[in-house]
Amino acid sequence: MADISKSRIAILVSGNGSNLQAIMDAIAADTTFPATIVRVISNKAEAYALERAQMASIPTHVIDHTAYANRDAFDQALHNQLIKDKVDVICLAGFMRLLTASFVNQWKGKILNIHPSLLPDFKGAHAIRDAFEAGVSHTGCTVHIVTPEMDAGPILGQYEVEMDADDTLDTIETKMHQAEHQLYPAVLRQFIENIQ
Ligand code: GRF
Repeated sequence: MADISKSRIAILVSGNGSNLQAIMDAIAADTTFPATIVRVISNKAEAYALERAQMASIPTHVIDHTAYANRDAFDQALHNQLIKDKVDVICLAGFMRLLTASFVNQWKGKILNIHPSLLPDFKGAHAIRDAFEAGVSHTGCTVHIVTPEMDAGPILGQYEVEMDADDTLDTIETKMHQAEHQLYPAVLRQFIENIQ
């Protein structure tokens, strides 16, 4: 069988890492997946996502944002690590830090994010709750390219989540995560196939 070219991806996390897990599982389950995760980077040492990566023998790195004087200094440290790891594509997966315009422009078109709403609706940090409280009939998740403006870059894929009459915020959150875990690996694969 011919060798499949693998893009080198870094996944940036801050917390639970269930989307990281979905991507790791998709790659592990399919030798034709055109990516390899070369590093998982967290701005928080206690992020469970780091344990998930370690269990899968993926190298991790912590860049504690509280140790840096400002966003530029943090982003420079991040940039340096990504260069060292020869990263092609960056996936934000529950990474709870805003990136500077300068960083985003250095990695233009190569940073993906997953957001728990059907963008452009419900931007921001409380998208699931905001959609639930707005009483919309359905919501969903979006994978998009990161641009300097938050939650505003070109959309690569979306997955709808129905809001049923008996749904609670908890049940919507569960449905949302299930949808995210379907969407992110699929869109990542398509994105990489298009750029290779
Ligand atoms: C997800 O809901 C994602 O859409 C948002 O942050 C959450 C991260 O969850 N950006 P996890 O850490 O991947 O479990």
